[in-house]
Amino acid sequence: MRKAICPGSFDPVTNGHVDIIERSCKLFDRVTVLVLQNPDKNCVFTAEERVELLRVALRHIPNVDVDCFDGLLAEYARNVGACALVKGLRAVTDFEYEFQMALTNKKLNNELETLFMNTDETFMYLSSSVVRQVARLGGDISGFVPANVHDAILKKLKG
Ligand code: COA
Repeated sequence: MRKAICPGSFDPVTNGHVDIIERSCKLFDRVTVLVLQNPDKNCVFTAEERVELLRVALRHIPNVDVDCFDGLLAEYARNVGACALVKGLRAVTDFEYEFQMALTNKKLNNELETLFMNTDETFMYLSSSVVRQVARLGGDISGFVPANVHDAILKKLKG
């Protein structure tokens, strides 16, 4: 059983993330999408909300599950027996930061490989904060996020 993790803060999940997760699920027997804490970010959605949004957005994929964790990613991977992390790379600018994280995770868990998957060109420009900003300024985000996320963002903004 080859198990992988797609980690991120997912605040919120976008169509770009869904694309990476769908493609990862074709390569591994089981994929866990893991909602983690990035200490440099103040999230708009709670961890529970982000997990629920992911569960609904990914329910068409049979071999995926969604979880959250507030510790070290490398430790979580060891505990569940995952052999790989899959991260989407959108542009060269992502690389340095991702490379640093990959090396750190490898130091913390030598059994864990990080695989970089190129983002589909349609989603090169996307990020969770771009989605939030466009929504806040009244733009149409329906092409950027799954339908349930679209509704949740609008509700959050109204609240
Ligand atoms: N499509 C669209 N957007 C994408 C994307 C894709 N395929 N891949 C990444 N992004 C966006 C994300 O939405 C995010 O946007 P934002 O900055 O507007 O929020 C941005 O690119 C960065 O994503 P990512 O590199 O995945 O960072 P992250 O903050 O979402 O996740 C963690 C980082 C949570 C995985 C990392 O902090 C972590 O592992 N934390 C746990 C603690 C730990 O183990 N620390 C040691 C790690 S070395």
